[in-house]
Amino acid sequence: MLIPENKISEILNASDIVDIVSESVILKKSGQNFFGLCPFHSEKTPSFSVNPAKQIFYCFGCSAGGNAISFVMKYHGLSFLEAVKMLARKHNIVIETRQMDPAKRAEIALKESLFNLNKNIMAYYAGLLRQDSSADGARQYLAKRGITRATMDQFHLGYAPDQWQGVVDFFKKQRIVRKTALQSGLVLPRKQNNGFYDRFRNRIMFPIFDINMQVAGFGGRVMDDQMPKYLNSPETPVYSKSRILYGLHAAKQYCRKAGTVHIVEGYFDFLSLFQNGIKNTVASLGTALTSEHIRILKGYAPTVVLVFDSDAAGINAARRSIKLFMKEGVDTRILVLPRGDDPDAFVVNHGPDAFLDLAGKAESVMQFLLKVAMDTHGLSVEGRIRILDEMKPHLADIQDSALRSLHVKELAETLNIDERAVLEKIKEQVVHGHQGRYSLSGSSEDPSDENRFLSSDPREKQLLSLMLLCPDIIPEVVDSGVMDCFYSQRLCSIAKIIANADPLEASFVNHVMAKMQHDKDRQLIASLAMAQGPDKDTDMRKTAISIINRIIRIKKRKENILTTKIIHAEKGCDADVMELLKMKQQEIRQLHDGQ
Ligand code: GTP
Ligand code: MN
Repeated sequence: MLIPENKISEILNASDIVDIVSESVILKKSGQNFFGLCPFHSEKTPSFSVNPAKQIFYCFGCSAGGNAISFVMKYHGLSFLEAVKMLARKHNIVIETRQMDPAKRAEIALKESLFNLNKNIMAYYAGLLRQDSSADGARQYLAKRGITRATMDQFHLGYAPDQWQGVVDFFKKQRIVRKTALQSGLVLPRKQNNGFYDRFRNRIMFPIFDINMQVAGFGGRVMDDQMPKYLNSPETPVYSKSRILYGLHAAKQYCRKAGTVHIVEGYFDFLSLFQNGIKNTVASLGTALTSEHIRILKGYAPTVVLVFDSDAAGINAARRSIKLFMKEGVDTRILVLPRGDDPDAFVVNHGPDAFLDLAGKAESVMQFLLKVAMDTHGLSVEGRIRILDEMKPHLADIQDSALRSLHVKELAETLNIDERAVLEKIKEQVVHGHQGRYSLSGSSEDPSDENRFLSSDPREKQLLSLMLLCPDIIPEVVDSGVMDCFYSQRLCSIAKIIANADPLEASFVNHVMAKMQHDKDRQLIASLAMAQGPDKDTDMRKTAISIINRIIRIKKRKENILTTKIIHAEKGCDADVMELLKMKQQEIRQLHDGQ
């Protein structure tokens, strides 16, 4: 471990997993656990659980699990060290990083300096916008577009000067090294390879924040009709377009409260809506939404309203993203604004109430697509057949069978077609569309006798579970020698870690987890600790003893069977099988001896 174990314990003790997870997942208490929709896989019914007593999370759907550190790692896509540092910062715990692996240290240092540098440049741009005479035009432009001083301040808008060297000089003064400067994406190398020039010139600047309120990148708009109208930071070690949504850092609390989030496309759409009190809004910045975006949003609101300024944009986006939304199980609605208005213009022209009224009436994606198809094809016999053909791939995409049958029913009723006929059509689609997957399912997946023979024993996991749930039995487990009879080397070494952990620690499971090197092992510990054991300690002990006896007995029997098989194979002169069996026997012996 690069960070001393006691530091990690200190950080874990200071953190509360429920608080940490609640920042990004809507949790409801049920019994001893909290439940919510898993942020790590697609689901519609909550199977993601958080246990406050054990300070762990575990998803019964995808088996993601671990402690507060693992959650922060997985959710924010951070390394172990970064996650520990993030939690430490939150609780004002100081960590010495001197003994860290140099590569890791360099990576973390780079990200830190990029965030820092972005923050300084944000202040530089904002300072110019606030008072520099060169920004007169920019201030007038923003005033013309109705952006108030308070909004400018809250979102730290700025002005990039009409110079080739503004940021370059700023970097020079701050003695920023060339490599870092380049990686920030704020400057570009000159063609002749002598120095750099500013990426953003004479533009209104919009800093893009990540969820942790750090400046990840920038967008910049021209003030006339030059092209490109907008310019964004490139992908950098701190700016990932597939994860960041503009405005979420400010909107998240309002999304929680409202249970809904509006997704608009542009910076000004976001700012206008926010300024007009519609604060549960984020902007996608013209990029296609990814499943990562949707999973992040799902943590703040169960309903998403996609807002478009034209039918064409809405139709394309609905078709493109329908699979994604269906897969993520998010209630998704489409709001197409009246011709000629984008969200910004609409709210300025008609006011926030009119916007909320329309948003409340927004149709589901399926209703929207059906309406579009009906408008296109009409309700003649041929028209209805075409509509059905157009809708069937979308219906086939719905993975939840109950939801699909609801839509099938609705479609059948609307088109006045027999429901069974609609179902037939969809079946065609499913068989057609997924041939590869279906043809595979014929092949036998039964493990051969041979494999089953040596595959891991569920009792080994059960025993680990009991050790976690009732640390009192650990001495007996150790004394029985059962751990050396484990077939799984991994479970064996985990058992030893559990056996060596201090049973008097306040949160035993969390303490064990902190000793694990790999996130996969922390995940396993979470799943084992969430298992339901017998209620009473005495029953736990009884169960443990019977499992121990069985594991030891089976180990002996398996060795006997193997030996018998080898003898048989030798008689039959089956050289390959013999070779294989001997190897396996040796493996088992090694496992036995080596521990
Ligand atoms: P305004 O004209 O300022 O109101 O912008 P808008 O937000 O209404 O613009 P539009 O609907 O054209 O674009 C929506 C979003 O797509 C913008 O906010 C940008 O994030 C992005 N975008 C638009 N034009 C460009 C472009 O030329 N380059 C890049 N990289 N992004 C763009
Ligand atoms: Mn606009």
